Amino acid sequence: MIVVTNNEGTPGVPETARLLREGAPALAAIEAGIRKVEIDETIRTVGRGGWPNLLGEVELDAAVMDGTTLRTGAVGALKGFLHPVSVARAVMERLPHVFLVGEGAARFAREIGAEAGDNLIPDSRRVWQAWFEKEVPEASKRNWAEAPLIDLCRHAVDPEVGHDTTVFIALDGKKEIAGAVSTSGWGWKYPGRLGDSPVIGAGMYADTRYGACACTGAGEMTIRAGTSRAVVLYMKMGMSVEAAVREAVEDMRRLKGGLINRVTIHAIDTKGNHKVVAVNGNPQNTYWLWQDGMTAPQSLPAEIIPISPITAKPSPSMIYGAKRREQA
Ligand code: GLY
Repeated sequence: MIVVTNNEGTPGVPETARLLREGAPALAAIEAGIRKVEIDETIRTVGRGGWPNLLGEVELDAAVMDGTTLRTGAVGALKGFLHPVSVARAVMERLPHVFLVGEGAARFAREIGAEAGDNLIPDSRRVWQAWFEKEVPEASKRNWAEAPLIDLCRHAVDPEVGHDTTVFIALDGKKEIAGAVSTSGWGWKYPGRLGDSPVIGAGMYADTRYGACACTGAGEMTIRAGTSRAVVLYMKMGMSVEAAVREAVEDMRRLKGGLINRVTIHAIDTKGNHKVVAVNGNPQNTYWLWQDGMTAPQSLPAEIIPISPITAKPSPSMIYGAKRREQA
């Protein structure tokens, strides 16, 4: 048994480890862990407490994948619900579809009785309001409903570099593998922007025959490289989990133009091996590991591999987020 999560998994990884130890299936164990992250207001890039988009609305993305059936479910730009990971799981289990977005996802969440809630906590509202007052041109403020957002968005970068999204991948006692991810995405994003988290094969992929992979960081890059599916496919072609992740990093080096930022790749295989690499990462980049025989999950540093100068500039959201953290 093994579970790997990123650092944002802190509030949930003990629960996932406990459930795995007690014999729970991988998917149930990681869903339970992610629900704890989603409801934790101190985790600013997932669920309640997640940073809002440019309009001050929290739009959530999540996905799950059962590596044994290769069934998957995802929601994108979901507003007004506390546990997108469970809505994604219901998409997988109750619909003939795999991916719902926006109003359709919210309608489905209402229909299944998912827990509703306002994810914009007072602190996020305050930070967004301060950004709005300082950064939005007066003409746009006067006609905010129709205001151009492209320039405001162009400078937006993940506000919590290295701390965004939560990803959980696990191998259970029956040797079945699953993955799940949840995020509020890129703070101050253009409304409707989807990152890699709900895009199966980009932000996450799981196959009980070979292993699982999940990514955090700039989703635009892992969508372009198809990173999570690639890592699992490389393992199918005979590479070790470490070689597969390194090959995916090589793929990422080929990305030219567009946003080049930070990405962390987390992967496990069927034998309980794992590898976590932070592409363009910083030294504080850590992840959680729990395996058979460990009394508690352990926080470990990711291997850092620089691939290219980062092209993104710090965003207003990043600056406000940093100021807020300094004050805290
Ligand atoms: N990796 C999360 C996102 O890009 O939204």
